[in-house]
Amino acid sequence: MTQRRSTGWYGGDDRNSYIHRAWMRRGLPADAFDGERPHIAMANTASDLTPCNAHLNEVARSVADGIHAAGGIALNLPVVSIGETLVKPTAMLWRNMAAMAIEEMLRANPIDGVVLLGGCDKTIPALLMAASSVDIPAVVVPGGPMLTGTFRGVPIGCGTGVWQLSEEVRAGTLSAAEFRRSESAMIRSRGHCNTMGTASTMGLLAEVLGMTLPGIAGTPAPDSRLLEAAHETGVLAVRMVDAETRPSQVLSRASFLNAIVALAAIGGSTNAVVHLLAIAGRLGIELTQDDFDRVGSGVPLLVDLQPAGRFLMDDLYRAGGLLAVLREVRDLLDPAALTVTGRPLVDYLDDAQVYDREVIRAREEPLQPEAGIAVLYGNLAPGGAVIKPAAASPELLSHRGPAVVFDSIEDLHARLDDPDLDVTPDSVLVLRGCGPRGYPGMPEVSNTPLPRKLLELGVRDMVRISDGRMSGTAYGTVVLHVTPEAAAGGPLAKVRTGDMIVLDVAKRRLDVEITDEELAARAPSAEAAAAYAAPTRGWEKLYVNTVGPASTGADCDFLAGSSGWQVSRESH
Ligand code: FES
Ligand code: MG
Repeated sequence: MTQRRSTGWYGGDDRNSYIHRAWMRRGLPADAFDGERPHIAMANTASDLTPCNAHLNEVARSVADGIHAAGGIALNLPVVSIGETLVKPTAMLWRNMAAMAIEEMLRANPIDGVVLLGGCDKTIPALLMAASSVDIPAVVVPGGPMLTGTFRGVPIGCGTGVWQLSEEVRAGTLSAAEFRRSESAMIRSRGHCNTMGTASTMGLLAEVLGMTLPGIAGTPAPDSRLLEAAHETGVLAVRMVDAETRPSQVLSRASFLNAIVALAAIGGSTNAVVHLLAIAGRLGIELTQDDFDRVGSGVPLLVDLQPAGRFLMDDLYRAGGLLAVLREVRDLLDPAALTVTGRPLVDYLDDAQVYDREVIRAREEPLQPEAGIAVLYGNLAPGGAVIKPAAASPELLSHRGPAVVFDSIEDLHARLDDPDLDVTPDSVLVLRGCGPRGYPGMPEVSNTPLPRKLLELGVRDMVRISDGRMSGTAYGTVVLHVTPEAAAGGPLAKVRTGDMIVLDVAKRRLDVEITDEELAARAPSAEAAAAYAAPTRGWEKLYVNTVGPASTGADCDFLAGSSGWQVSRESH
């Protein structure tokens, strides 16, 4: 056995090792420090202010039992947690900060491995980014989705139901009191959003990447089987330390390409593009936005979940779960991609079965023959933009219409419902200043509401274009992540109301019908610029000065890559 990392703290008889041991004893057995037993942290995003992750302390106890049963020492490490629905101005602003803080605490502490406990949207990406940059043995336990709630006798999906019901309120078909009554129907139990939003997507993709015990992602948060899986993961973490199974050995380009295939087959969130690019960037794995289109866009959509479809995560689990979906697209998966167990992912597909063909379709009878994410280019998005055709209205995927431009989210809220707003169902709603730098943090505001007067006419979708993101629980013909963003000098800052915009998803084009000369000669909107973030200190300033474009994962430039697990100096 090579010397354990924690022995660098606890081994020896000098003053420093005395200090490290003495303060840690507090009831731990003497053999905790003999260099045999691996010290394993549980990087735990449990927080009352991250309600989707609040149950993770209980999950951590099961992980700890597993670690102890296998001879390890389990250490709870509360880490920065981000609750999607609460933090302002947007959870995404804090993803890189959380990843940075988690990375440094994993490196600075005497641990040999780590179990990553996450759930709510940004938490699993931040944990994986951190673990990748430290590269100590790491395994994820996804916190799991909520149970299905019902309202008015029918299932109501987290997030997706909010968008639907709030439009009903605006259209005058649902009372404010009923709207409020739906709150506790929607959030029925512990766990994260149960639609195929970002949390569900990233939990499932953590498994496709090989970073969970295979077969556990998507287990509902209140399900006893989650605790069983947590226990088993604790045992596995000890074995991983003994085998020195590091993220850099598990994660390869093949793992990410498999994740792209899965993302398409499950109909996952567009946010996964940004998160997977950022994780790959930590490992130095070459992955581009174009890989998503190239590898994913021919993959059939097999899972019928909200927001685009009918069912919820509970149903997916009941129907056979992720491995059953992957079995349908097995031929598209790279068999070389490994998991934390040391075995390839595809080894786990043989026994997977589909129990409900309504939820998980057969390969021959997909919901859509081609799903995935389309990457568009054009004079409006020289660095690319993304759209999820499966969540869009087919008739809008090729569209020409006049722009109605909003310079900020405040501008949009102030004018959208104005009866005098010059807008028709053919208009293209453009919202700018919502990129990583401009907002700051690239919020999920790009699935803008529709103007009230059009809603009242029965219009339910329009082409929308933005440099921001969209909630994974949302839907519509929305072009997202326009790069470069307006605040970084992108042409989006030069579009004017009335310009004709042409969207052609089949040709992968997004253009504004003005000549190159005119576009070059136009000044960017001063109104838009006035709304861009201009922080003077703190994390926001660091973030705005260093964040990269969405097209490469919106990580901060100084955080890309890995610093490894070594520490340079003693503290005493
Ligand atoms: Fe936490 Fe949706 S708000 S997963
Ligand atoms: Mg979300």
